Amino acid sequence: MATSGKPFLRALRGEACERPPFWLMRQAGRYLPEYRAMRAKAGSFLDLCFNPELAEEVTLQPLRRYGMDAAILFSDILVVPHALGQPLDYVEGEGPRLDPVRSAEDLARLSAERLHERLAPVYETVDRLSRSLPAETALIGFAGSPWTVACYMVEGGGSKEFAQVKAWAYRDPDGFSALIDMLVAATVDYLSAQIAAGAEAVQLFDSWAGVLPAPQFRRWVVEPTARIVTALRAGHPDVPVIGFPRGAGLLYAEYADATGVDALGLDTAVPPEWAALTLQTRLTVQGNLDPIMLVAGGEALSAAARNVLEALAGGPFVFNLGHGVVQSTPPKHVGQLAALLRAWPALS
Ligand code: CP3
Repeated sequence: MATSGKPFLRALRGEACERPPFWLMRQAGRYLPEYRAMRAKAGSFLDLCFNPELAEEVTLQPLRRYGMDAAILFSDILVVPHALGQPLDYVEGEGPRLDPVRSAEDLARLSAERLHERLAPVYETVDRLSRSLPAETALIGFAGSPWTVACYMVEGGGSKEFAQVKAWAYRDPDGFSALIDMLVAATVDYLSAQIAAGAEAVQLFDSWAGVLPAPQFRRWVVEPTARIVTALRAGHPDVPVIGFPRGAGLLYAEYADATGVDALGLDTAVPPEWAALTLQTRLTVQGNLDPIMLVAGGEALSAAARNVLEALAGGPFVFNLGHGVVQSTPPKHVGQLAALLRAWPALS
């Protein structure tokens, strides 16, 4: 039952495709020499995110090499706190640094008043891409989910234990919910503007969903995501939403049912055979090759990719990684994977 349209969007609508469409989380980035050259030209990482011409170019770089079925806007999840007024810097070799937000007083210094003004260059990047992409290639917009963005805002950067953000959420859920509510509203506005500018699907990255116990997972991951999905659907009923609650484990099915996302990003630890039986019967799944297989290359990579395909390619499916491409990935291993995916046998 083949219908028309871009293969990636058909898969998100629930169709099994003869060849599963693919893209890779963090497909643009430092593993590509042409990215490193563009990054050096831009100056800082944020200058690159806010320069529509260069951000468009960096988005297109992996597509030229590997012909993915979807492009993902080049930006970062932390442009939202930046646009709310939280100072942000990316320190070479260390990752993002923010002035931590840990109280109602800190929160009072942030405001959504200039959100669209500050994010206008991102919308311009989306607009440019919607006109420059090949006809078969879909354009994905994205944002971090409120919980994951709050992790960086409260910790002031990356973290191993998430002690600050968790302790605030556990000790003072009403106070913490003011931050989450601000992020829900900003995320709806931000993604709606990306859609208005030409994004054809959106993904919510919840990289740290898996660090919470079940009751707090429901409150800080599932509920805010459900509110975002409901609001986006009211304004843009035809634009699919992909949720990626990394590390959700046994709560993946509940997340899918309770949030109403159209597709579910699976992390590396989810057994694909289990996902086929339990999740793919409800919605489209996306994933979940270990990104380190792209570092290993060779027969290990090919066997692992085939294993994912054999389990999931018979139903509604988008091939992807279980997390983002890492910096030490040899570009030729991505080429090896792309060739394997293109040659995957047609379904009967
Ligand atoms: O996928 C893509 O190609 C689009 C661009 C994209 C980036 N970040 C570019 C980036 C996307 C979708 C993201 C999402 C993102 N950003 C997440 C969710 C996915 C995940 O990896 O868990 C998170 C948690 C962030 C926050 C972030 N941004 C961190 C922790 C870091 C530093 C560590 C790292 O991985 O580099 C960044 C910086 C960043 N974002 C870079 C890129 C290409 C590297 C910056 C540089 O060039 O120095």
